[in-house]
This record gives sequence, structure tokens and C-alpha cells, in this order.
Amino acid sequence: MLPVQMKEMCTFPEGTGRSRPAGGTGGVNGPFAPPIGTNGPFTSWDSLRPARRTRRGDGRITAAFGAHGPDSALVRLPGMNSGDDRDSLRHHGDVDAEHGLLDFAVNVRLDRPPAWLRHRLAAALDRLGRYPSAADDLAARSAAAARHGRTADEVLPLAGAAEGFALLPSLRPRLAALVHPSFTEPELALRTAGVEVARVQLDPADGYRLDATAVPEQADLVVLGNPTNPTSVLHPAAEIRRLLRPGRVVLVDEAFADTVPGEPESLAGCREPGLLVFRSLTKMWGLPGLRAGYALGDPELLRRLSRYRPHWPVNALVLEAMIACCEPAALAESGQAAAEFEEHRAGLVAELDGIPGLRIALPARAPFLLLQVAGGAEVREALRQHGIAVRRGDTFPGLGPDHLRVAVRDPAQNALLVKALRDILGRG
Ligand SMILES: Cc1ncc(COP(=O)(O)O)c(C=O)c1O
Repeated sequence: MLPVQMKEMCTFPEGTGRSRPAGGTGGVNGPFAPPIGTNGPFTSWDSLRPARRTRRGDGRITAAFGAHGPDSALVRLPGMNSGDDRDSLRHHGDVDAEHGLLDFAVNVRLDRPPAWLRHRLAAALDRLGRYPSAADDLAARSAAAARHGRTADEVLPLAGAAEGFALLPSLRPRLAALVHPSFTEPELALRTAGVEVARVQLDPADGYRLDATAVPEQADLVVLGNPTNPTSVLHPAAEIRRLLRPGRVVLVDEAFADTVPGEPESLAGCREPGLLVFRSLTKMWGLPGLRAGYALGDPELLRRLSRYRPHWPVNALVLEAMIACCEPAALAESGQAAAEFEEHRAGLVAELDGIPGLRIALPARAPFLLLQVAGGAEVREALRQHGIAVRRGDTFPGLGPDHLRVAVRDPAQNALLVKALRDILGRG
């Protein structure tokens, strides 16, 4: 096993961004302009204002949704026209990735799990003849615990990180602050359960970087992704830790953390009261159909999170996948894949740079890029005509129709995307 050293991960001083991206807001094409349709009047709910205004004045609460039932939005986002935007929050890249198209919409590394993992799962099929035992559960939790330098009672197997989001209402939060733009399932799960939600909108002009002071003090649950889907920003762990408060749970969705070489800003091995981390096996291991992930946190917090789960909440294959994907050979393979992602992303950025009218949100650290281009919907349709699927951006709170998200693929596939975009937008 290669346990991540907790000491190494948790001792850097509070408030120091260890790896604040060099160059700040800049990138190949500079920072994004505020997205069309989302820079309307600043909508605030005074009681939710952050105690301290951000120094840069960038993080903003742009909408708050009330706790009086799932449909009782108190304040509507500018540009929201349907009675309930939850349909839009339900949209994911798998819908954009129509059959037969080259898939740049879904950020899963492989189109199926590697052969060695398929064999492990196939061998585990024999165990489907009995209920998963306490020993099976412990073996999976111990494997993940060893991988992150924790104890088995600090691990909770999940049917994917998505199940973890659905469990959040069990924590009975009074006010949840969702840091956006980000993956939408947590907001959807919380609002559907009638939890009061405030959106904290990060500023494109500041490269969508986290500013802990922009989060309302009253929030007893804060949710953010690291690295963040869809902006590809990797927030400094120290800035995330500044969100921690007595009586508050801070959930870091690290579904893509293993795609960053060395996982420099991961808090998975960090033992802090109220800190909850979700990990996913989906992206790295080509397992979206299995539904496998796990939560890491204080045992009491995990107990509260899981109190309404059924008996045997995850199946024998999920437990086997956890064990297999935490073994040294798997960690070596994922480390190699993460290094390749970095190399391929740098190549893709270099090729996309200079295409007229196309802007890239940089610095990017995840295996996808957020793009902005005028007429985004038309460009997406033109790409479809070229046989390529990309993820629409406008269903992410804070983004608009001109935003598109593209996965980083291997150089040959990336070249096809670049060529299609050059054909559509001009050669530059
Ligand atoms: C940022 C992020 N977190 C979590 C998930 C869900 O992960 P899982 O497949 O483990 O439920 C996704 C899936 O797209 C995601 O993009």
C-alpha cells in the first residue's frame, strides 16, 4: 500500500494557498468576461451576506432557495425563466454524448474498466449469491483507509459520489452554501429535500478561484468540488480549510482528485472536525455503470450521513472495486494516467489557443477544459455535425450558452476536436 501521509497533507499553515495557481486569473486567452445572461443585477439576501466582504469583492451570493418546500425559491437567478430550474440542474454530459459521436462530453477516462479490473469484478460475481457481510464491508473500508492514511471507521462506501449527495439532507442542514459553478447534483438533492440553499458564485474575472470569505457565515453546510467541474480549477487546500467552523460541515467533492498528479490539494487524508470528502471510482476507472465511491470523515459524521440508508447499501462488486482500485498497482496506474492527462491537456490548450473567438478558462488542472465562445449553442451543433459531442455549459449555475466543456482525450482524438473547431471558427 502507499498510504498518503496525513502529516504531509495537513500541516501547512492556515490561510496559505500552497499552490495558488501561478499567474492568477490569466491564461492563454486571459480571464473570461462575465458570462452572458448571468451578470444581471446582483441579487442578495441581506441576512445571507458573508460576514466579511471579500477583499476582491468577487464571490457573490446570486440566489437563495427557501426551505418551505422544494419549489419555494425565494430569489430567482437573473435569466431564469422556467418555474423550476431543477430540470436544468439534472442535465449531465451523458445526455450530450449521443451514440455514434466522438465523446468529449463525458469526463470518464476509459470507455470500460481496464481488463485487470473487469477480471476482478467478474471473479466477485460468485459472491452475489450471498449478502455482503460485515467482513466484506470492513475489507473495502480498510483498503480505502490505508490508501488515504485513515482508519476504517472513517470510510463509508457509497454507490458513487452521487449517492453521497443524496444523503446530505440526513445531516439536517439549516442553510447549505453551494459554491458555483460546480457539479449540480448536490444542489439538486438538497433543494429537492427542501433544504435552504444559497449559491456562492465565483468570479470568472478571478479565474473562478475560491474565496472562503464569500461564503455566508450562517451556512452550516458548504459544498464545493476540487478540482471543480466544470471550471477545471484546483483550489488550494488551505483556502478550503478556512471554511471550517464549529457546527459546520464542509463537503469537498474530490471525484476528480485522482486525475491530478500527486493530488497536491486533496483533503482526503485530513482529519478535521466537520470535514467530509467524497471520492469516486467512476472517472479514473471507467466505472460509471457500477456506481462506486466512498466518503471520508469523522465516524460520527459518517453515521449521521448514513442513518436512513437501507441495510446492504452497496453491493459486492462495489466493495471489490474499492479494494482493487486502492491497491498499489492501481495507484501506480492512476498516477501514470494523471501524468498523461496533464501532458495531453497542455497539448490541447496549446492547439486551442489562437483559434479565433475561443477562450479557455486557465489554469486548468482537471481532465477537461471550460471554453467560452460566442454562439456556443451553434458551435456545439456544428461540432455535432462534425461527429463530436461536447458538454453544454449553460446548465451550470453562473455559466451561459457560450460556455462549453470539453474532455481531455488522447492526442489523436484531441486533434480531431481542434480540427473541427478550426473549421467552424476559422483557422486563426
Ligand atoms: C464533480 C463530480 N462529482 C461527482 C460526480 C458523480 O460521481 P459518481 O459517478 O461517483 O456518482 C460527477 C459525475 O459526473 C462529477 O462530475
